[in-house]
Amino acid sequence: MTTSSAFEPGTGRWLTNIDKVRQVVRQELVSRQLTAHLPAAPVDVLDVGCGQGSQAIRLARAGHRVTGLDASDRMLDACREALWTEPAEVRERLTLVGGDGHAVPDLFGDRTFDAVLCHGVLMYQPDPAPLLRILLTAVAPGGLVSVLVRNGDALAFRPALLGNWRQAYDAFTSPAMYVNRLGIEARADRLGDMHATLHGLGLTVEAWYGVRTLTDALPDEAPPADITLVLDCEERAGRTDPYRHMAALYHLIGRTAR
Ligand SMILES: C[S@@+](CC[C@H](N)C(=O)[O-])C[C@H]1O[C@@H](n2cnc3c(N)ncnc32)[C@H](O)[C@@H]1O
Repeated sequence: MTTSSAFEPGTGRWLTNIDKVRQVVRQELVSRQLTAHLPAAPVDVLDVGCGQGSQAIRLARAGHRVTGLDASDRMLDACREALWTEPAEVRERLTLVGGDGHAVPDLFGDRTFDAVLCHGVLMYQPDPAPLLRILLTAVAPGGLVSVLVRNGDALAFRPALLGNWRQAYDAFTSPAMYVNRLGIEARADRLGDMHATLHGLGLTVEAWYGVRTLTDALPDEAPPADITLVLDCEERAGRTDPYRHMAALYHLIGRTAR
């Protein structure tokens, strides 16, 4: 039995929508961006809040040695189920651990990883810095930190596109907090603040991307048969100003000193 997080009430809805177009866009973009920063040769990766394992499994398929850590038994079960259909060598490269990200030093001791991922987790923390500080203890010198956070610079955009004008208006008066599509109150990060936090922790921000810039207001339905063009448009928007500033999520890649 693992600990619970503020995300837990949204687990069912999250898993129901995992194969829908918005999730497909999110996971594919994050994967492309991550791949561009990771070495081609296999490295050790820790995915904190790995959830259903969308990134962890892709990385294991690519040959990396992956440890997935999550606070939710249900999410780890979903990951195990997805992993079951993978070839044996992929299954062997992914180890799943139950526990909270704050317990990383207790769980892994002095062990370090070449890359630590923290995707879709910091919005459930009152302040991103304490958890990030703990996770940094597990990053090898010159290692990579990948974070995916809700964009707090354009929080009114999604509710406005969905016609929820009360929530859009509130986003201007209370720019850090919002209710996400899972129905959970969560926290958003402004790009400047996240840069400052990462710099303050000694990281160099190597790159940042917008994720779900053009597709965030799409209904939760199956992706179109040919999603290639959608993904390519999203990828361009996520790397281009001013579009990427309007994305639902920011993906930042940081690096520790050598
Ligand atoms: C929104 S899901 C994201 C899953 C995956 N990282 C992704 O991007 O597809 C958030 C996940 O983080 C986990 N989580 C939230 N807070 C956590 C914490 N403090 N420690 C470990 N896992 C946490 C939740 O259980 C859930 O599986």
